[in-house]
Amino acid sequence: MAIEPLSVQFVCLGNICRSPAAQGVMESLMARDPRWQGIVVDSAGTAGYHIGRAPDSRMIAAAKLRGYDLQSRAKQFERTFLRSRTLVLAMDRENYRDIMLLATGPAPNVRLFSDYLDESWPRDVPDPYYGESHGFEYVLEMLEAGCPKILEEILRKKESLRPD
Ligand code: 4NP
Repeated sequence: MAIEPLSVQFVCLGNICRSPAAQGVMESLMARDPRWQGIVVDSAGTAGYHIGRAPDSRMIAAAKLRGYDLQSRAKQFERTFLRSRTLVLAMDRENYRDIMLLATGPAPNVRLFSDYLDESWPRDVPDPYYGESHGFEYVLEMLEAGCPKILEEILRKKESLRPD
């Protein structure tokens, strides 16, 4: 059986604001360090409202100011990701519930993004879609705080899977 590469699936509602930004932050971190080579990073939405669309222009602009180039196209989360992804990270508790509705058994690889943040941050990465521009910046701040921690966990998994 083929071994799946280590992978992270970010999930939000529409896949045009939070999870594409998470993907962009993660890919930028990975490009800086050869230890992260070969990890698959992807994003998806629990809803299919925006399938095929580029990220929201407000998120593209906020991300660009911090040096991230968001290139993803929206797609809907699929049940198969529950098995194929090393980690599935929900941006908020509603996303988490919607993902778990697709699970047929325990899914310990499904976590909240904020599990990787300390308690000074909220449990949910707030949905910026109907808000003001500072909401997009706040999302990026949260992502920049959590993504390095997620990469550390993935690296630990990689080390534990390495043959002696
Ligand atoms: P996201 O934000 O889940 O971070 O991509 C949203 C994008 C679109 C909608 C809601 C949230 N919408 O209702 O269309």
